[in-house]
Amino acid sequence: MVRVLAVNGSPRRAKGNTALVLRSLLEGAEAAGAETETVIVDELELKPCTCGAMRCWYGTPGECCIRDGMDAVYPRLRAADTLVLASPVYVPLPGRMQDFLNRVCPLMEPRLEFHDGRTRARVRPGVALRRIALVTTGDWWERENSARLVGIARELAEVMNIGFAGAAIRPHALAMWKDKQLTPGAVEALAAAKRAGTELVRDGTMSEETLAAVSRPLVPEETLRGMYNNWLRGD
Ligand SMILES: Cc1cc2nc3c(=O)[nH]c(=O)nc-3n(C[C@H](O)[C@H](O)[C@H](O)COP(=O)(O)O)c2cc1C
Repeated sequence: MVRVLAVNGSPRRAKGNTALVLRSLLEGAEAAGAETETVIVDELELKPCTCGAMRCWYGTPGECCIRDGMDAVYPRLRAADTLVLASPVYVPLPGRMQDFLNRVCPLMEPRLEFHDGRTRARVRPGVALRRIALVTTGDWWERENSARLVGIARELAEVMNIGFAGAAIRPHALAMWKDKQLTPGAVEALAAAKRAGTELVRDGTMSEETLAAVSRPLVPEETLRGMYNNWLRGD
């Protein structure tokens, strides 16, 4: 059975738009037979990595020297074959999510390889992880606004020498709501996120067509810009 571990780095935790899109994706993953679990980074009381000496590679290989909420997450990270990182765009990501990403180092072993001009490590024996996917939401209109975050998730997968399964990007996420209700366009985007979750488990990747449907425009760019600019003026 495919085991999916989702890590939600939104400071709004389970109440945010990131959690909303993530939940749909995980529903799709479960429909395809996966076992899923979600960790909320802000509930872990994470300490940042303070070990500049890479002790988890050369001192106590595979073990982080910091004792905190990550202790309970490491066994789940080692057992999952699919890691779904979920994060809002915070130019580029929330600080605690960055702390989490730094703390993933003990899962890798420093048997370095050089491919296409880039240095790559690998996951340790006993770590089941084979792919990383990303769920991200932002409030600006265009999908490209998430590019930096997509690059970070892809880079982590490549550094670990595992697959990058794609990014479910929900731009102008605030426009999913009107009068505290999901708009019809948002309902369609969430249905696409659910299909993406099914594809992730079934195919190990998410199709471009489905990911485009997750990101479908909900309002014209000028409308969104008008909303922002009118707020600024206090209209
Ligand atoms: C500090 C901060 C920086 C942000 N930077 C961006 C940004 O660069 N681009 C963007 O589209 N949205 C940005 N946002 C908006 C969030 O990405 C957006 O509201 C997201 O959907 C929040 O997800 P959540 O509801 O799960 O917290 C920013 C929000 C905050 C608080």
